Amino acid sequence: MEQFQLERIVEPLLSWYDANARILPWREQPTAYRVWVSEIMLQQTRVEAVKPYFARFMKALPTVKKLAACPEEELLKLWEGLGYYSRARNLQEAAKTIQNQFNGIFPQTYEEILSLKGIGPYTASAISSIAFQIPKGVVDGNVLRIFSRIYNDSSNIALEKTKKHYQTLCDTLIYKEDPSSFNQALMDLGATICKPKGPLCDICPVASHCLAKKVNKQHTLPINIKKLKHQEV
Ligand code: ADE
Repeated sequence: MEQFQLERIVEPLLSWYDANARILPWREQPTAYRVWVSEIMLQQTRVEAVKPYFARFMKALPTVKKLAACPEEELLKLWEGLGYYSRARNLQEAAKTIQNQFNGIFPQTYEEILSLKGIGPYTASAISSIAFQIPKGVVDGNVLRIFSRIYNDSSNIALEKTKKHYQTLCDTLIYKEDPSSFNQALMDLGATICKPKGPLCDICPVASHCLAKKVNKQHTLPINIKKLKHQEV
């Protein structure tokens, strides 16, 4: 039942993405290296702010090899303004691992990508799907918001079990012919239409499948209650 409902969003979502995908620098030549650097920059920084940093970084360090060999001072200079410098240090450590343990070739499986320093499940899924078309769903706050609304689901998205539920759902639902577009379509839908405040349901490609919209509850979802330490999970 659940899957049946959701499968119907795939076609309209992908058609919408085809016509409305945001033009973003890392979407041109989406090599693993470019996707990786962009995802790390986007972890704590907004898309618009990342754009100039990404362009400058790629110009200075266009390959994994150049990143691995870059003097730390120069690397931190390229990162200056983005903050959270451990991200840059982890990037370089992972680049050295790729050089030394993967013969300079970016690993092409989800597990190997996940093994690299600074790459968690979300980023590994993003790189795997966007660069290698591996069917791994990218589930972040945006995607949890979209699914909470489509299902009119008031589960707390801060809970691990809710995230796991939607990760499984997304891995099953993902459009196997083009996991990259599927994931990026959800990212764009979350960023431009299914926004936290003021979702633009009038122009949403999946509004007719959205259970929250049906009962006018879209503004009340998702439920996101961070639990206090020691509280029940
Ligand atoms: N946020 C995180 N990853 C992104 C991507 N690849 N495109 C747009 N926004 C993102």
